[in-house]
Amino acid sequence: MSTKTINDFRHLTDAKWLDMLIQSIDTPVVDNLEFPRFPSDQIQAQFVGSSRQDALREGYNFYHLAKAYAKQLGRPIGPGITALDFGCGWGRFLRFLWKDVTEDHLHGVDIDPDILDSCRQQGVPGKLARITPMGRLPYEDGSLDFILAYSVFTHLPESVFRHWMNEMKRVARPGCVFAFTIEPRRFLEFVGSLADKQTESKWHAGLQVHSPQIPQHLANYDAGKVVYLPTGGGAHRDAAIYGDAVVPLSYIKEAMEPEFRVWGHIDDPAQFWQAVVIAQRQ
Ligand SMILES: C[S@@+](CC[C@H](N)C(=O)[O-])C[C@H]1O[C@@H](n2cnc3c(N)ncnc32)[C@H](O)[C@@H]1O
Repeated sequence: MSTKTINDFRHLTDAKWLDMLIQSIDTPVVDNLEFPRFPSDQIQAQFVGSSRQDALREGYNFYHLAKAYAKQLGRPIGPGITALDFGCGWGRFLRFLWKDVTEDHLHGVDIDPDILDSCRQQGVPGKLARITPMGRLPYEDGSLDFILAYSVFTHLPESVFRHWMNEMKRVARPGCVFAFTIEPRRFLEFVGSLADKQTESKWHAGLQVHSPQIPQHLANYDAGKVVYLPTGGGAHRDAAIYGDAVVPLSYIKEAMEPEFRVWGHIDDPAQFWQAVVIAQRQ
């Protein structure tokens, strides 16, 4: 029986919170606090490529980095702010942000109604909403202080990418920090390296189909163009709206500025395979 509330844990360091989240994978009540349950390992991996503590540790690196930037940029993450996890999947980042942001100001959206139902059943914190792939966010203009999107813009074709960048401009309050990931150029080189290889997953097999076109894709990328591989992503994510996208930083800046200023571009495969962009609403 849980006897504590999240308010008893807000003072914890992020590292200690990560430890508790890892414990909560197998023990839903940790230190008398009831945690949200997890979906099956298979569902976790289907959404994020890994499961259990590997998935949490990878997510932690991004969460911790984004929080550090938010503090540095004068919009620290804490109970007074309104935060959104865009493309929240099974709520990996909502679990992290639960410690920082009060639940009535914590939001998650996704286009997949099944994963949102599963989040609700598992007790994932925050207000969850389903959006359509080219829809509108259910928030007022200028109402959000912090937006995360991990491994979401890495999947969107150009028109969908631009649509959501414009929607982010609308909902972000001046000063809002927006942290998201992009596929680096080396992703295309990786797809090229799959040619004639025995692939180890369905995803890699889907990418391998595009290996012969990689030289042309690299030339387009180097010319500042979006490269989109229409691989699809199962139910609710057909190839017209979801695949693998590699977007040059110059294109991102052009799409985001002047409303957003891009402050950081971190490409460090030791921390996360994807690269991170940190931007702030002006
Ligand atoms: C690779 S998963 C990442 C999930 C989560 N961000 C994480 O890292 O734990 C991509 C997620 O984005 C969602 N998604 C895809 N297209 C979207 C869109 N246009 N708007 C919002 N979410 C989208 C997918 O349904 C899926 O849950």
